[in-house]
Amino acid sequence: MKGIVLAGGTGSRLYPLTKVTNKHLLPVYDKPMIYYPLLTLINAGITDIMIVSGRGHAGHFLELLGSGAELGARFTYEIQDEAGGIAQALSLAEDFADDEDVAVILGDNIFQDNIHATIQSFESGAHIFLKQVSDAARFGVAEVDKSNEKILGIEEKPEVPKSNYAVTGLYIYDNDVFDIIHTLKPSGRGELEITDVNNEYIQQGLMKYTVLDRNWSDAGTFESLLKASIIAREDKESK
Ligand code: G1P
Repeated sequence: MKGIVLAGGTGSRLYPLTKVTNKHLLPVYDKPMIYYPLLTLINAGITDIMIVSGRGHAGHFLELLGSGAELGARFTYEIQDEAGGIAQALSLAEDFADDEDVAVILGDNIFQDNIHATIQSFESGAHIFLKQVSDAARFGVAEVDKSNEKILGIEEKPEVPKSNYAVTGLYIYDNDVFDIIHTLKPSGRGELEITDVNNEYIQQGLMKYTVLDRNWSDAGTFESLLKASIIAREDKESK
């Protein structure tokens, strides 16, 4: 399985922290933010990883991360010229993925859970990771039928969430994901939405999920960036 870290976007909610640097290079406790999603993949046994970033700071990612050898991995770099959504960024990795499955992670997502077993046992379709949160309206939200452990659908940032299960920014897909992205139309905000990709897998009956036990945070707002640092420190202290 190949890994893809998506590190584009403008980070506008973190201004002025993101005035002269990229969000994913900001500190989260003792490391630049992007180290965390990279290590989540590497600790799951995925070492062939593409990093997709916007054009503004692409050189900084190269300087920071190099070939990947320091982390025991091999990094490939790709540029998303304009912000077009998570699914559009993922589509840039189609050639890199070749005909393999992919584990896709957002560059601002900090996980404590180890996903090694899920990655290693993945066969086909798609698999997402849910986390119970108190501010679900900020995320993609999954409606879950607990009687048969099926996801009924996902709504992107709903005003009235149907559950408190946030869809975290870690997705495992088979290679059909690229065909699905080719069928997508831009959403109201003009982006190709990862939630539309996930809903297609749900409709085809091919979506599985895990509810995370340990802490998780994104880091795109001041509050979540602070929470991400606290989670990262807690994780380090527990080791
Ligand atoms: C994105 C996704 C959303 C997901 C979130 C996780 O939102 O669109 O479904 O819940 O990442 O971090 P963003 O916060 O990047 O707009």
